[in-house]
Amino acid sequence: MRHLPTRTTHQRRGRVVGALAAGLLCTAGLAAPAAAADPAPAAPAAPRLGNGLALTPPMGFNNWNSTHCRAEFNEKMVEGIADLFIAKGLKDAGYQYVNLDDCWALPQRDAQGKLVPDPVRFPHGIKAVADYVHSKGLKFGVYTSAGIKTCNSAGFPGGLGHEYSDARQFADWGVDYLKYDNCNNLGVDAKLRYTTMRDALKATGRPIVYSLCEWGENKPWEWASGVGNLWRTTGDISDSWGSMLSILKENLPLAPAAGPGHWNDPDMLEVGNGGMTDTEYRSHFSMWSIMAAPLLIGSDLRKATPATYEILANKEVTAVDQDPLGKQGTVLTSAGGRWVVAKEMKDGSRTVALFNETDSPQRIATTAKSLGLPRAAAYTQRDLWQHRTYNTAGTVAATVPAHGTVLLRIAPGHAWAQYPPAVETGLDGGPLVESAKPARVTATVTDLGRTPALSTDTALTGPAGWGIRALSPTSSPALPTGRSLTTTWELTAPAGTPNGAYDLTLTSSYRAPAGGRVTQSLPVQAHVVTPPPAGTSYLSDLPWISAANGWGPVERDTSNGESAAGDGRPITVGGTVYAKGLGAHAASDIAYYTGGGCSTVSAMVGVDDETGGKGTVTFEIWADGHRLASTGVLTNPMPPQPLSANITGAKTVHLVVTDGGDGVDSDHADWGNARVVC
Ligand code: GLA
Repeated sequence: MRHLPTRTTHQRRGRVVGALAAGLLCTAGLAAPAAAADPAPAAPAAPRLGNGLALTPPMGFNNWNSTHCRAEFNEKMVEGIADLFIAKGLKDAGYQYVNLDDCWALPQRDAQGKLVPDPVRFPHGIKAVADYVHSKGLKFGVYTSAGIKTCNSAGFPGGLGHEYSDARQFADWGVDYLKYDNCNNLGVDAKLRYTTMRDALKATGRPIVYSLCEWGENKPWEWASGVGNLWRTTGDISDSWGSMLSILKENLPLAPAAGPGHWNDPDMLEVGNGGMTDTEYRSHFSMWSIMAAPLLIGSDLRKATPATYEILANKEVTAVDQDPLGKQGTVLTSAGGRWVVAKEMKDGSRTVALFNETDSPQRIATTAKSLGLPRAAAYTQRDLWQHRTYNTAGTVAATVPAHGTVLLRIAPGHAWAQYPPAVETGLDGGPLVESAKPARVTATVTDLGRTPALSTDTALTGPAGWGIRALSPTSSPALPTGRSLTTTWELTAPAGTPNGAYDLTLTSSYRAPAGGRVTQSLPVQAHVVTPPPAGTSYLSDLPWISAANGWGPVERDTSNGESAAGDGRPITVGGTVYAKGLGAHAASDIAYYTGGGCSTVSAMVGVDDETGGKGTVTFEIWADGHRLASTGVLTNPMPPQPLSANITGAKTVHLVVTDGGDGVDSDHADWGNARVVC
C-alpha cells in the first residue's frame, strides 16, 4: 500500500523498518505501478502558479546523486561545475542551474534565526558561490526541507516555521531555484507547507523556480501546478537500472499534469555515476527528455567520461526535453517490455522513443499514423543519437538493443526524398549458445523507406575464435519498401568458453538511390550457457543468464538486504529460515538456462521477515515465454508458500517477482530452497 498521507517521513524501499527511527527517516521510496500503460489520470483542474518561470523544464546540476553529504560537496566543486558548464558546452546545450542539495548549512541557526552556511564546505559563504555562478551567466539553486530539519540524519535546519525569513535570506543571496524537501514535517498538511513557502518566495519579489520534493506522497500532480514549477512524483532515484526503470514507469502515466511552468519531476539524472551502462544511461536520458522532465545532472562532471558528456550535451535530445509546446510524451504501447512513447512537438513533428526494457534485442514498431502525423507518401526520420536523417514510408521501427532506446523525430513534408531509406537491422532475440555446439540465429535487414535500399550487405561478427557462418545469402541487389533480406547464421563458441555474455555485432550496409552508402550496426549479446547437471540443483548454485532486481542486486542464499551487493540476511519467511535460495526485490526477473532437459522448478516463497510486516508481492515461474505458475498476491505475515512448475522441454526459465499492485516499497521477495530437477 502506498504510504498514508499522514506520514511525516518517507522510507526508502527495501529499508528495514525496525532499524530506523520512524520520525527521522529521510530517504524517499519508490512505488511503481505494475504497468505504465495504466489509464492516465485526468488533467488537473488546479490553478497555475503563474510566476512565469520554468516555461521549459529546468536544466542544470545538483550535487546530491554524486556526493550525498560527503566532504567533496563544497564550494570548489560547485564552482568547478559552473566552469565545466561553459568549458564543455553544457551551457550551450541549455543547462543553466547550478544547485546545492542537502548539507550546505550548519545544524544550528544563528542568534537571529538565520541559516548559517557550513564554513568548511563554503568558507566564503553561499552568496559568494551564487555570485560566482552568476558571473558565468548561469543561475544558482539551493535546498531545504518543508520540515523542522532536512533529510540528512545530521539534522540541518528546515524551513517549516521559518518560511519568510529563509526565503528572504535565499533571495538576498541571489538564489534562483529552491528545492523544498519533505522530511521531518511533523505531519503538517503538505499543501499548507508547500503553499506557505510559495507565498514566502513570492514575497521576496525575486524570481525563484520552486521545486516541490514531497516524493509524490500527496499526489502533487493533482494540486501543485498552482504551488510549484515542478514536483517530484516518486521516491529517490538510485544509480541502477531497476531504480531508473521503476521511476520511469511511475512518471509516464502522469503526462496530462505537465506543461509549461509546471512539470512532473521523476528525480535527477544518474547519467555518468557508474551504476548503469552507457546504453542504459542513454535510455535514462532519452526517456527523461521525452517525458519533459527536469534535466538536473547528477554526476561529478569533474570526473565525467567523454561518453557521459556526449550523452548530456546531445542538443538534439535536450531539444526534445525543451520543446516549447511543453508536452510530456505518452505511452502508445508497452507490451512485453517494448515501449513506444511519443511526444508531440511544437513544429508538428513527433519524437518517438522505442525503448527496450528487456534483456535481449527487441523489434519495436509503430507507424506515422499512430503517432498522430498526417497521411503522407513518406516522412523524414531523424535519429537523435546517430545524428542521421532517413526517409520512412510510414513504419517507424527498429530492433533495439537490450535496455536501449532508439530516439527518432518524425516529420511530414517534402524533404524526405533527399535522404536514404530507413533500414531496420534486426535479430530474433539474443542467442543462447552452449560451447562447441552450433546454434542458429536469423537476421533480417528490412527497407522501411519509400525509396529502395540498393546493394545491401549484411555481416555478423563476434569474439575471436568463434565460428560464425551464413547458411543463406548475405546480400541483395535491391530491397524495395517493406522487403527484407533474411539470413540464417550458425554460431559456434569454442569448446570450453566460460559462461557469460559475449558481444556480437550485426552490420548492414546499403546504398541510397541518391548515392551514398549507409552502414548500420546492432550490438547483440550471445550468452554462453551450460545446462544444469542431472539431478536436483539449488538455483543459487547455478549461473543465471541475467538477474534484474528492483533494489540492489539479487542475493544468493541470503535475503535481498539493502541496496549493496552481499548485504543480505538469512532468508526468513514467517519465521522459517532457509539456508539456500535467492533473495530478490520486486520488480525482479532471474533467468536460467535449462536447455530443454529439466522437469521441475520449485521453491518456498514469501516476503522476507526483514521488512518488518511490510511488502506485498506475486511470485511467478515462466518457461520459454509462458507463465506456468503464480502465487497471487502474498503479504508479509503469510507463511512460506510452495511454488513449482513442470518445465519439461523448456530452454529458459524465469523466476519473476512483481509488486502486489501497491508499489514496490519493502517488497523483499525470497525464493527459499529454489531448486531445479534435470
Ligand atoms: C531526500 C530527497 C533527495 C535529497 C535528500 C537529501 O531524500 O528526496 O533528493 O535531496 O533528501 O538529504
